[in-house]
Order: sequence, then C-alpha cells, then structure tokens
Amino acid sequence: MITSAAAAAHPNIAFIKYWGNRDDLLRIPANGSISMNLSGLQTRTIVQFDTSLEEDQLVINGESAGAEALQRVSATLDRIRELADLKTAARVTSENSFPTGTGIASSASAFAALTLAAATALGLGLPEKELSRLARIGSGSASRSIPGGFVEWQAGKDHASSYAVSLAGPEHWDLVDQIVLISREHKAVSSSQGHQLADTSPLQEARVADADRRLGICRQALLERDFPTFAEVVEQDSNLMHSVMMTSSPPLFYWEPGTLEIMNAVREWRQEGLQVCYTVDAGPNVHVLSPAEHAEAVKRKLTALTNVKSILTCTPGGPAWLIEP
Ligand code: PMV
Repeated sequence: MITSAAAAAHPNIAFIKYWGNRDDLLRIPANGSISMNLSGLQTRTIVQFDTSLEEDQLVINGESAGAEALQRVSATLDRIRELADLKTAARVTSENSFPTGTGIASSASAFAALTLAAATALGLGLPEKELSRLARIGSGSASRSIPGGFVEWQAGKDHASSYAVSLAGPEHWDLVDQIVLISREHKAVSSSQGHQLADTSPLQEARVADADRRLGICRQALLERDFPTFAEVVEQDSNLMHSVMMTSSPPLFYWEPGTLEIMNAVREWRQEGLQVCYTVDAGPNVHVLSPAEHAEAVKRKLTALTNVKSILTCTPGGPAWLIEP
C-alpha cells in the first residue's frame, strides 16, 4: 500500500543569524533569528510511504543521495512516523529549482517541504507551529521556511518552545534580495559542522548575549519598514557571525576576495544615498538587500563590478505549500 503527498517550500535568508546550538541533536539554537522567505527559489518534494519498502530511499535532483543525507531525512521521518504511530518506510524524491553548486543552501527549503509532505501523506493535519518544530530537527533554518513572509524563530529552551512564526506576510515590505554568486574553489564546511564549532570561539558568548538587542531592533525596523536602521543591524549581525566563524577552532573563512569587494561597494553606495545593505551566510555569496525602488540601480552597479558573474533576484515568499504529486 502507498500513501503519498507532495509539498514545496522556499529557502530563506536570515537578517539576524542562527549560529550555534544549545542542543545539537534537537537543534535548539543558541539565539533566536529573523529571516525572509525567498520567492523564486524552491524545493519540491514527494514523499511516498510504501509498505513494500524495507528502508527509506532518497533521490535529490535525480540522483540517489549519500548515507549522511539519507540518515538526516530518516531522522525527520521517524519523528513524523512516531506521531502517526506507523513504521512504514518512505521514498523521498526532491528537486531544487535553483542551480546546485552555487552555494545556495537548500536544507531550509528541503526539510520544510519534506516535513509538510510527510505529515500530509500520513494524514496528520498538524498546525504550523508543529510543522516548524519538526522541520527544525532536520535543519534549524528549515523551521523558518514553514511560515510565510518575514519570520522569527523563537529560540526556546526545548523541543516544544523552539519554533518559528510569521512576523508579517510577504506583501508587508517589497524588499528585494539580489544574491550575487561568487565562484568557489573548494567546498565549504557544512553549517551542521559549523554550528558545533561556534562555542570554540571566545566571541560566541558576546554574540549570543547581545542577540536580543539585535532581534528587537531588526523586528521593529522590519515592522516599520525603516530601511536605514534595518541595514545597520543586518550588516552588524552578519559581521558578528563571521567573526565567530573566523575565530573558532579550527577557524572557518567563508569570505572570498569577491565577497569583500561587494561588501565594501555596498557600504559605499549606502553612504552615497542608495538604500542597500549586505548579509552573508555560510558561503562566499553576498545577499544584497534593498527596497524594490532601489533594486534596479543596485543591480546596475553590481553588474559593473569585476567579480560579479551572475545574480539571482528574489522577493519575499509565502509559506510552505502543498502541490500536486
Ligand atoms: O539550518 P542550517 O544548519 O543550515 O544553518 C543555517 C546557518 C546560516 O545560514 C549561516 C544562518 C541562518 O540563520 O540561516
């Protein structure tokens, strides 16, 4: 017997970042975070629970996934199977709309889509909060790809209290994220490994201690569409996370020369009066944020820079959603 469902979700870009866990297994974060879902990019996932299967199977972009990825998917499925009181194995087929190897992390959209598809296939009808908690087990940032628009993941202290909620829908603010792709010579350390190194940096304690202040400023600036305040706190938060990364043991350097060139240019353009700021995740790509009315001018300036090869343009995206299998 086969029961199946399909779902899609957007990845998200964090304005206030998640880096380091209080509990690595449950992915209870050291601090709360705030993000925006990225419309235009998505993962689509089909989950088929099939009584004829002996174990879970995972195919990503047409290729059979490795043991580590499968184990992570099975851990999320186990939680959902437990809720449905069922042991049936599943076939999971997942496709990303964005090019692989670009350094755009797909784990947020992947685990959000997986969670919604699997819970629906088993007829669980779970509320958004519970879907967010379950997605968090697979990848922390996936908890933020369940609700729509601008999202806050409340750190919490345990499984029950750690989930994400929408602060405002996608229509609230017409922010544009232009993701500038920087070529990468070597594979970066995965964020799962990176989170485990966060506490080895003497700067992590200070970053976490100051997180509520940054969250408060960012939340209010978002709600008031106050770009100048938003820009300062978003760049500071990104710089703080990278300071922790660069001072952990071993250190993690995600920036490349092109990353820094764009960061410097963006700050200069802001001083000249353009509404624009940057944020950088666990890779060399730079997310360049601006209100829609400044996006065209920003794009022209970006394309004139020597290191810029390609740009993906995203606007605020909705919540994870069900699709036809
Ligand atoms: O969800 P993970 O384990 O891929 O961690 C995401 C980490 C960052 O992208 C660097 C920051 C964030 O909050 O998204």
